Amino acid sequence: MLFLLILLFSFLRFPVETGARSHSLQYFYSAVSEPVPGVPAFSAFGYVDDQRFIHYDSVGMKAKSHALWLKEGPSYFDDETKIFTSRMKLFHLNLRNLQQYYNQTITHSLNKALKQKQADAHTLQFTYGCELLDNGSTIGYWRYGYDGDDYLNLDMNLLQYIPLSPMAHYTKQKWEHNRKDFIERDKIYLEKECILWLRRYLECGGESLNRTDPPKTHMTHRSISSHGVILKCWALGFYPAEITLIWQRDGEDLTQDTEFAETRPGGDETFQKWAAVVVPSGEEQRYTCHVQHEGLPEPIILRVEIPPPFTSSILNIIIGLVLFVVIGVVLIGIMVRRKKYLV
Ligand SMILES: *[C@@H]1O[C@H](CO)[C@@H](O)[C@H](O)[C@H]1NC(C)=O
Ligand SMILES: *[C@@H]1O[C@H](CO)[C@@H](O)[C@H](O)[C@H]1NC(C)=O
Ligand SMILES: *[C@@H]1O[C@H](CO)[C@@H](O)[C@H](O)[C@H]1NC(C)=O
Repeated sequence: MLFLLILLFSFLRFPVETGARSHSLQYFYSAVSEPVPGVPAFSAFGYVDDQRFIHYDSVGMKAKSHALWLKEGPSYFDDETKIFTSRMKLFHLNLRNLQQYYNQTITHSLNKALKQKQADAHTLQFTYGCELLDNGSTIGYWRYGYDGDDYLNLDMNLLQYIPLSPMAHYTKQKWEHNRKDFIERDKIYLEKECILWLRRYLECGGESLNRTDPPKTHMTHRSISSHGVILKCWALGFYPAEITLIWQRDGEDLTQDTEFAETRPGGDETFQKWAAVVVPSGEEQRYTCHVQHEGLPEPIILRVEIPPPFTSSILNIIIGLVLFVVIGVVLIGIMVRRKKYLV
């Protein structure tokens, strides 16, 4: 009976719950004043959760699918292309206006020195989207950034733009004067339409979007000097991208002295990350790396495994023996053949 209960308990516990995950639909736009090869004047990406599914830029001027699960007809892509193209025009205007606010004159003269050009390169970024939380509530957001800093947000409760930089007051005034109805329209989009699209994409994406791939972990160990060692804790092949890597020393978190790599795509729809610490050599055993991910029933704890020194000497002996035998066999072979010829 007890056994049965334990069995039942483990059944109830184990399948990792993925149905109740939060999901998001997000778009990222960016316009640069000085495009270079590889960085178009305008580009836009759409993401469902951590997966890029659509892309548009000023070079191709066509909305393109980035996900196998996006099985929409040509009219979908035509509509998206129209939307992106009109936003691109608006975006270039916005960027020019912002440059004027910042008193950055735009010149199209070709003989400008490259240095001057780089100093004049500016970026306008825009991100908007919606989230469907695991408890069923929804969130919408809408934000502009300029040269990597926050510029302006839309507050959907107050129904107004919130300037986040001194220059953004000009934009707020202008937009609230000229296009008051845009705010209402954007709010409706983010709260209703965006969520409907998200649900539709989640249905299309199915298993590909709600899957959980637990991380594969390992640790590397590299001496950097006679008394320092870099310990690097790796997590590979996981999905979704949300993950926590924590280094501990004697059981205490070491957040400040840890170097983290950005979580990056592994190229196969999974993600990778590492966290590294520099530790005094000889003290490696005091450090542990803790990996937490939705796909893990409990965190993985990694420790340094220093190969016992005798392993390498045993290996040397084995290699030596094998070489000895091989050379011996070859020599005997040569001698036998010689003998044959002599006979
Ligand atoms: C913009 O440039 C003009 C002339 O170069 C200058 O007088 C003015 O103070 C500048 N404004 C700002 C906001 O920097
Ligand atoms: C759902 O969770 C979010 C954040 O965790 C919270 O702000 C919101 O009030 C919750 N909604 C409901 C209906 O419980
Ligand atoms: C993932 O979503 C698909 C389609 O909505 C559903 O059939 C499947 O059961 C889901 N899988 C999990 C593990 O939740």
